[in-house]
Amino acid sequence: MKLPFLESSKLDYKYILFNSIICCIVGLFLQKLCKSVYKRLRLVYYGSKFNAPPHRFLIGNTHQLGGADKYFKFLIDTSKIYDKYFMLWYGSTQPAFICYDPDVIKKVILAEPPKISNLYRFLSDWIGHGLLTSNGNHWARNRRLLTPAFHFDILKTYINIYNETADTLIEKWSASAERHEPLDLYYDASLCTLDVVLPCAFSMHLNCQTSGKNHPYINSVQTLGELIVKRGYNLLHHNPWIYFNFTSAGKQFQQQVNVSHEFTEGIIRKRQAELENVGNDEVKSRKSLDFLDTLLNARYEDGTKLSLIDIRNEVDTFLFAGHDTTAGTLSVTLYCLAKYPEHQSKIRDEVSNILQNKSQIEWDDLSQLKYTSLCIKEALRLFPPVPFNARTANKDLQIDGKIVPEGTIIIYSGFIVHRDPNVWDHPDEFDPSRFLPENIGDRHPFAYIPFSAGARNCIGQNFATNFLKIAIAKLVHRFDFITDFKKEISYSAPLTLKLHNVEIYLRDRL
Ligand code: HEM
Repeated sequence: MKLPFLESSKLDYKYILFNSIICCIVGLFLQKLCKSVYKRLRLVYYGSKFNAPPHRFLIGNTHQLGGADKYFKFLIDTSKIYDKYFMLWYGSTQPAFICYDPDVIKKVILAEPPKISNLYRFLSDWIGHGLLTSNGNHWARNRRLLTPAFHFDILKTYINIYNETADTLIEKWSASAERHEPLDLYYDASLCTLDVVLPCAFSMHLNCQTSGKNHPYINSVQTLGELIVKRGYNLLHHNPWIYFNFTSAGKQFQQQVNVSHEFTEGIIRKRQAELENVGNDEVKSRKSLDFLDTLLNARYEDGTKLSLIDIRNEVDTFLFAGHDTTAGTLSVTLYCLAKYPEHQSKIRDEVSNILQNKSQIEWDDLSQLKYTSLCIKEALRLFPPVPFNARTANKDLQIDGKIVPEGTIIIYSGFIVHRDPNVWDHPDEFDPSRFLPENIGDRHPFAYIPFSAGARNCIGQNFATNFLKIAIAKLVHRFDFITDFKKEISYSAPLTLKLHNVEIYLRDRL
């Protein structure tokens, strides 16, 4: 008997080809499936060897994590039960290794696991692959290229902007002092740091402190931050296809991204044209180069320039990474000083010496603001604006004889390690003297990480602390900061750390 498919050689060929393709596809699919199942089983097997708070079948701990304040509180409370670290379960197959011991944090940071997490993915939909969100060679190349933008020769030129911005805040707050109104601390600090970051980034003076957040670009920066936080708490919105096609939040996000990109690209194009007209040497000889000038002048080793998109991503990153964190630090330092007024007088003594017969704090004065600097460090210890840093293990990590398997989310927490009683005496007390050189002793270098540490530490930390020193010194010179001791503060960490129930009043010293 003849089989029908053998009747013609043409059919034969087609049939075999068709079957081979199907077999290949099924084979590849099965291989992928097996790999993925194997990976998941490994994650569950090794992950469950660690201590973990009780979790449920299928949902893990997710029911305990919803909302910025709930998530924060859950991590802090659980860290008090388990020594050094614990495993949290996002569903029953995705472990997250939460660690807060200096030695373990050191191991994690030195292993340099990449930044692959939902938060960075959501951020990339806006700030693309700038320094904060990129990994591997792309990150290393750009980090090398951007480091000169934060050299003190460049930072020096921002000193007038720092002073002017602090003066505008003083002007604004003198009205609040007169009316005996509590400060809208975070809001005002956020406008103030925008006024610092925008001119330093691209010489843009939007005067946010006086005109508010009405500018479409400022509004978009603010709205995008809020939308990213909300997206994090809605599992359905994690899927980009659903988020951007079927949700009003996704559509609003895209709309605001367009506003932000249009604005930044417009400025870059204008500056590129200016550069072509006046020439590189003239731009380089300008008294004050902004971040954008540095980016436009930067060249990779092979002489190529950053692309327009690369520049846009880095400028957006500068703004995003710089403004909220610095505003948070300004707010918590003023809160700490209001709560512990004895430190205000020490700052006042030091700044009065500097401002005897002038109104500006100059570059060379910064090194004399020693006590101000100790207070900022201590406020950053108690309330680090980035309380948790997230990574994903790209290889197995050995911790105390156990394995944190590849694919595990890793979260190391500055907030928790900064209050570790094994490292810090009376950790909940505000005591700036712990940062005096004679008191640092042999403190573990990874026990204090407000700017993270290692290769991916904060590139903007000197930029931020220079501004903060000037702002705090000038503000404390002018006002008494007063708060109500009885109120219990609480925290949440939507994107950066926020304190709630903070009420601060001012008394003008003029
Ligand atoms: C007091 C204010 C600031 C604090 C507390 C702070 C904190 C941090 C932390 C903890 C990281 C590590 C993030 C991670 O690993 O996920 C980081 C990274 C970064 N910060 Fe800051 N930051 C501050 C101000 C700034 C400013 C003013 C800028 C820019 C002008 C900036 C730009 C960046 C960038 C670009 C990165 C990514 C660095 C990299 O991965 O190579 N930061 N910052």
